[in-house]
Order: sequence, then C-alpha cells, then structure tokens
Amino acid sequence: MKEADIEWKNLGFGYVPTDYNVRCYYRNGKWGEIEVSSSETIEMHIAATSLHYGQECFEGLKAFRGKDGNVRVFRPIENAKRIQESARGIKMAEIPTELFMQMTEKVIKLNERFIPPYGSGASLYIRPLEIGMTARVGVKPADEYCFLMLVTPVGPYFKEGFKPTNICLTREYDRVAPKGTGRYKVGGNYAASLVAGEKAHELGYSAVLYLDPKEKKYLDECGPANFYAIKEGKYITPASDSILPSITNDSLMQLASDMGMGVERRHITIDEIPDFSEAAACGTAAVCSPVGEIHDLDNGTKYVIAKDGKPGPVTQKLYDTLNGIRLGEIDDPHNWNVVIDL
Ligand code: PLP
Ligand code: COI
Repeated sequence: MKEADIEWKNLGFGYVPTDYNVRCYYRNGKWGEIEVSSSETIEMHIAATSLHYGQECFEGLKAFRGKDGNVRVFRPIENAKRIQESARGIKMAEIPTELFMQMTEKVIKLNERFIPPYGSGASLYIRPLEIGMTARVGVKPADEYCFLMLVTPVGPYFKEGFKPTNICLTREYDRVAPKGTGRYKVGGNYAASLVAGEKAHELGYSAVLYLDPKEKKYLDECGPANFYAIKEGKYITPASDSILPSITNDSLMQLASDMGMGVERRHITIDEIPDFSEAAACGTAAVCSPVGEIHDLDNGTKYVIAKDGKPGPVTQKLYDTLNGIRLGEIDDPHNWNVVIDL
C-alpha cells in the first residue's frame, strides 16, 4: 500500500479525492448488498426526491491514526443513531446500525492510505449520505434510497485552526424554524444558512451564532457546529429543539463533568454573553474552536471573550483531552473509540 502523496500538515477542510466509496440501495422495502465504487459520481433520475424536495440527510465522523498505530473511529454508533433520527424526520428509510457500522469499517479499510499519520493533526473525515432516488413530481417520500459513504482526509475546519476566531449574531436570518428540521442533519438546513454564512464570511467572521428562531432571545448554535461557553466555572450549552444534538458537545459535557465542572444544558440569553470567560464552536469538523469575540451585527455591540487572544484554559484542556482519547494517547474511560481491524 502506497501512502497517499498529501501534505498532511497543510490540509484544510476540503474535498480530496480518495480511492473508493461504498454504497447500498434500499429497494422493494429492504437494503441490498454493500457495493464498492471507485467512481465519484452517481447516476440518478432527474426527478429524484432528493433533488427536488431535499429528501437528503448526512453525517460526519472522523477516524484517527493513533500513537500506537491503531485506527480509531470516534463514537460511530451515535452517528448511526442520529442518521436514523434524521431519516425519520424527513420520511426516509432508516439505515440499520449494523449496516452503518459495516460500511464505516469497509470505507476506512479501502482507503487506508488516506488516513493521515499520527502527529499530523489531520484525520480521515467520513461523510455518510442518504438520498431519495424515486422519481416524483408530487411532494411525497421516495420508495427507493441510496446510502453512501465517502471519505476525505481533513485538517481544521476554520482556517485559523485552534486560535480564537470572531463570530457574529443577527436577528435578520434563521437557519431553521422553531418546530422545523433543526434537530436533524438534513441538507436543507445548510442551504438555509448559506446567505447569512457568506455575509458573515465577507465581514470577516468564521461563523454565525444563530438565535432561537421563535423569540430571538436565546443562543442556539453556529451554522456548522454547536456552541458552549464557560460561565462562572460552569460549562453551559444551549438546550433547544432547533439545534443538532452534537456528539462532540455531548462528549465535551462528559469530559467537563469528569473534570469536576458543573455542566448546564439550558436556555442561554444574549444578556449572559458579557459573563462568559470562554466560548467555543464545537462539532466533528470544528472540534472545539475557541471564540475570540461575538459581534451583534444589529446593534454594533462587540463582546470580547478571549481577552488575551488565546484559547481559554478550559477549552484548551477539553481539546487536549478529546484529542488525547481519539489518538490513543490517554485512556478512553467511556469507550468512545471503535478500533478498526485493518
Ligand atoms: N450543529 C450543526 C449544525 C452541525 O452541522 C454539526 C456537525 O456535525 C454539529 C452541530 C456538531 O455535531 P457533531 O459534534 O455530532 O459533529
Ligand atoms: C461536521 O462537523 O461533521 C459537519 O457536518 C459540519 C459541517 C462540515 C457541515
């Protein structure tokens, strides 16, 4: 096996072609055999429900090459459960956990030469995707689905890496509705975030921190990640029906609690921002990306969080612990890693 010719240390979060992807089709009420493909395209009907009515959901998880040479995937069963939730949320066929796990293992093994080396800071990002394939003109769920997994080696999501970046909030845009699809990982949520997201990028912000879409009073989450803050020594993170239940956030809450910190999942108002000693965007892609400042675009208020321009001590510790577990450098007390037998 020839290691891929990639400058691992300079990888950003982009698509790098790899050797294979895996696919499985749902037809006549059941999932078929796992297929291996080296093609980067799919053939589908021009009237497929995924194309016309957004019947599409996806996941994101990472595999790491550890200090001991083992390859570990972080909490894949949680991703399997979440894509089942997403599928239920938009009336798609559910992918059995066993099928999800078999495909995860297979796609990693097939692309072993693209798993970044230990110490590079990069990882192999796995992107499971389910799409409705049936041709429909009326709005109705498909009968046939394609579930595929592609992989691509990635570096940090925000170009600044683990340095504080500024984010913004505004009442001008929502990415989801109060009782809508925010808690599912469906493409439409991301389409709905593009206008505000691009505006934020043009203004120099790494992300938008969305407010709750009903009252615009509470913090919700960032476009591609959850949000947490450290307030009076406690880890606080929004409780909301319109955000994605993040596996990273769940892990960080556990780690914060293991460190003896108080952890609160509750409504967080904008008025509390001045009391934050730290804040971060957290997710598979974002890991925990420290927030420097939060700017309110509607009234010009600028909240400075990382006063010395560095990640705060709690975020640093959480980041080091999470990475240490995933790289096999420290114990994995909650059995989060699944080791791939290569
Ligand atoms: N929120 C949104 C909107 C996301 O796209 C993601 C990324 O998956 C997250 C939160 C973080 O979730 P996780 O930690 O499971 O990757
Ligand atoms: C992830 O963190 O895995 C995501 O899916 C976020 C983003 C790239 C959409």
